[in-house]
Amino acid sequence: MAGGVVVNNGGGRKDYPGKLTMFVLFACIVAATGGLIFGYDIGISGGVTSMNPFLMKFFPAVYRKEKEAEKNQSNQYCKFDSPLLTMFTSSLYLAALVASFFASTVTRVAGRKWSMFGGGVTFLIGAALNGAAKNVLMLIVGRVLLGIGVGFANQSVPLYLSEMAPARLRGMLNIGFQLMVTIGILCANLINYGTAKIKGGWGWRVSLALAAVPAAIIAVGALFLPDTPNSLIDRGHTDAAKRMLRRVRGTDNIEEEYNDLVVASEESKLMTHPWRNILQRRYRPQLTMAIAIPFFQQLTGINVIMFYAPVLFKTLGFADDASLMSAVITGLVNVFATFVSIFTVDRLGRRKLFLQGGIQMLACQIVVGSLIGAKFGFSGVADIPKAYAAFVVLFICAYVAGFAWSWGPLGWLVPSEIFPLEIRSAGQSITVSVNMLFTFIIAQAFLPMLCHFKFILFFFFGAWVVIMTLFVAFFLPETKNVPIEEMVLVWKSHWYWCRFFRDEDVHVVGADVEMPAANGGKVDPAKLAY
Ligand code: BGC
Repeated sequence: MAGGVVVNNGGGRKDYPGKLTMFVLFACIVAATGGLIFGYDIGISGGVTSMNPFLMKFFPAVYRKEKEAEKNQSNQYCKFDSPLLTMFTSSLYLAALVASFFASTVTRVAGRKWSMFGGGVTFLIGAALNGAAKNVLMLIVGRVLLGIGVGFANQSVPLYLSEMAPARLRGMLNIGFQLMVTIGILCANLINYGTAKIKGGWGWRVSLALAAVPAAIIAVGALFLPDTPNSLIDRGHTDAAKRMLRRVRGTDNIEEEYNDLVVASEESKLMTHPWRNILQRRYRPQLTMAIAIPFFQQLTGINVIMFYAPVLFKTLGFADDASLMSAVITGLVNVFATFVSIFTVDRLGRRKLFLQGGIQMLACQIVVGSLIGAKFGFSGVADIPKAYAAFVVLFICAYVAGFAWSWGPLGWLVPSEIFPLEIRSAGQSITVSVNMLFTFIIAQAFLPMLCHFKFILFFFFGAWVVIMTLFVAFFLPETKNVPIEEMVLVWKSHWYWCRFFRDEDVHVVGADVEMPAANGGKVDPAKLAY
């Protein structure tokens, strides 16, 4: 009789007692540093692949093509188009995709913290290999190890944060992960800006090797992290779980939440095959979101900017230095705009941010596409005046800001908070792997797409933003302030998703419970009691 568990004896939404303790805040900050390794990767590769000494050493053909394009003033859209070069960037995401499935088991069986630790250590080895690379093979093997690290961290960190946080602050604490992602990207941009100036031509080595710093932070940090109460109960450590819950909530009055977690855990034990069961009809809403949200997040086109900002700015005719500097500017915007969501997500809710961010991104994509199209046209040959290029950068920044308070953080928050415990780990793996798959596809396809679609590319991503914004408007229920083990109520009361639940799928403990509208009022507890 496994299914979405609700232990609700008062009707309406619960608010468990407790406050935001320093202990939980600190644990969340440490765990969120797992986002640094992901961010560092995203930011570092674009800059490194625009450094001439790096290109000359590993990708001489790309280097020659770039120089020729400069000399002949030929098609700017195509000068960086090389499958091997994009393979360098995107191999990491394929590795992360596969690793996240293994991470699911480690996260469930050994606890969330050991996945984070494993991720940090693997990443450390990858960083060393990359910094010392002598050939393309070493580079790519290093990237694969980094990818395994990212797969483990992205699988475990968002779950950890969502489980640790009190429901009413879950959005804020979870977005700590995305904040670290953006800080990682910015640090990488700044480091590239500095190392590109190193005269000996080995600056790229420093950029790649410094990935060891965030890796060491999360690996060491994970050793000191407490396990989440949910995970402790799930693994049979009930006394430790009680102690932990008291500590993280800062109150002795934890019985109600504790009992709910125990029921959720018992329920989850009935489910021995999360991978098979996740396909059951009653998990269809959550499964849909686990796939659709990361898919849409990547189809915003954000990583075109994150990976290739320096390349894109060079395409616009910026000098090497100015290109890297512009990437630093978009990186700064990305960090600061994330704070907007940190401070509003638990008040305004997820949906409003998604919708506003979507509209802003769309408007900017239309402007950027038109500005580039007006100058470069389809021939890709133009000399862009400085002021004009600065205007393009301005709209790119507004686009990044829109993403940074909507799809960026929410693309990780929402999937991590919607699954019932029995399939939470498996669900998160699906989210990570879909995210990585489309990150990979976009990383791989962007340069050839820029070469063939030209400025139309911006309209292509804009069209996807329209689709995803409508999707959110119609299909994504609001999840703010809902305790994570009660999330099933949200689906059950949604105009569309309610059809996937039968009364038997929701078990209610307690007398005479009000169910949300979809169920039409009172529920017979005898029928639903678990
Ligand atoms: C996305 C990344 C993206 C980053 C930008 C993350 O949420 O998953 O693909 O590069 O945000 O800040």
